[in-house]
Amino acid sequence: MSKIGIIGAMELEVDTLKKQMNVTRVITKANMEFNEGTLDGAEIVVVRSGIGKVNAALCVQILSDIFEVTHIINTGVAGSLNAKLDIGDILISKVAVHHDVDVTNFGYALGEVPQLGIREFPADEKMIELAEKTCKEVLPELHTLVGRVVSGDQFICAKDIKEKLIENFKGDCCEMEGASIAHGAYLNGIPFVILRAISDKADDSAQMDYPTFEKHAAEHCAKLVRALVPQL
Ligand code: ADE
Repeated sequence: MSKIGIIGAMELEVDTLKKQMNVTRVITKANMEFNEGTLDGAEIVVVRSGIGKVNAALCVQILSDIFEVTHIINTGVAGSLNAKLDIGDILISKVAVHHDVDVTNFGYALGEVPQLGIREFPADEKMIELAEKTCKEVLPELHTLVGRVVSGDQFICAKDIKEKLIENFKGDCCEMEGASIAHGAYLNGIPFVILRAISDKADDSAQMDYPTFEKHAAEHCAKLVRALVPQL
């Protein structure tokens, strides 16, 4: 039987799912509240990790060690790096990369964590496929893209930085947890997928757009996750 860990960085990104699920156990660890229970018959653990890569990595390790999850879904919002992704649209991860890791001095590719032997963490093919199909069913009015998530401990809100992320990483969206969740899932051998709804365009308008659209975008993701989990 599958047991799915669902991580959102912010309360806004998990509160809809928490209200919809049947909670059987709540455990607080590392300042994170893990809500274990069921949603439409699926066993799940929903948690707000907090923002950024360290919180995200800790969260994955707890989901693995304490809850023994078999799958991880990272849900939430992101800035768009691809003109095809408008505010509200959905990005499903094909791969995730750290954009703030730079050990190029020692011959590693930009974004590559030394001595790991991998630069891009691939999401699970089956989860990608199911997410894509489900998205078309439950959010047919939105544009969905399977693409590249780039993550770093930085809110991207300037055109020149956005352009660098596109140039260096061919990123489709940027956020602050995905690569860390992917990295942790990879180290623990847990299949994962990142599902992000676009809240802003990661440029000079991002600071204005983000608070205006984050709730709406997060609701799109919650709808997708709810329809996806019983299928895993
Ligand atoms: N999450 C949502 N929008 C973002 C942005 N522009 N940069 C980083 N994380 C984000």
